[in-house]
Amino acid sequence: MPERILFIMKKFLSYTVLLLAVVSCRQNPSTTEMMNVFTQIDSKEIPDNVVHLMADDWMLITAGTSEHFNTMTASWGAIGHLWNRPVAFCFIRPQRYTFEFAEAQDYFTLSFFDETYRSALALCGRVSGRDVDKVKEAGLTPRILESGNVAFEEARLIIECRKIYTDFFSPEQFIDNAADIYPAGDFHKMYIGEIVNVWLMVND
Ligand SMILES: Cc1cc2nc3c(=O)[nH]c(=O)nc-3n(C[C@H](O)[C@H](O)[C@H](O)COP(=O)(O)O)c2cc1C
Repeated sequence: MPERILFIMKKFLSYTVLLLAVVSCRQNPSTTEMMNVFTQIDSKEIPDNVVHLMADDWMLITAGTSEHFNTMTASWGAIGHLWNRPVAFCFIRPQRYTFEFAEAQDYFTLSFFDETYRSALALCGRVSGRDVDKVKEAGLTPRILESGNVAFEEARLIIECRKIYTDFFSPEQFIDNAADIYPAGDFHKMYIGEIVNVWLMVND
């Protein structure tokens, strides 16, 4: 009889452990089996029209560490070639929370998504990380890249950049009336990043 009780207890214990493992996998989105597969490509192999990519698809600019980062939507930017290196440009107004992270870090990432994520990007461009956990609200999953830089699991294209030049636009340098867009004088800061890695999602 005691052997039978011991057998039942062992069975109960093993089922409980199994159940806990399943529950913990479902709760942790970074579980390996749920991760998308990205392949590394050269910046010259980016399959998109980059003007369309920036202006119409939008992107998330992300900077920070795996423990502490912020992200925001942007549609002003460029990808090109400068000082004999592949580069990406982006422009961040000083009042953005992301600005603090972009200033503090040596790297930033640009994440591009398919149309399914339009509302997620709209949200990340409407609210501030100072006020809400917008990554959670948007239903996005942070992906910590091999370099330690932060991007997003759901992105179809990720560009990792190392800051090589930054500067604020200055009013006296504008040649036409483009500066009219800054009635409050809150000029964007330009970040030029050397493209160090490009990742393309391959499993969708
Ligand atoms: C489509 C779109 C494009 C945007 N482009 C930029 C941009 O290029 N630079 C910028 O500073 N803000 C841009 N914004 C605004 C920021 O994304 C927005 O202010 C955001 O809430 C800032 O978040 P944060 O305070 O968490 O950094 C854009 C917003 C949208 C919706």
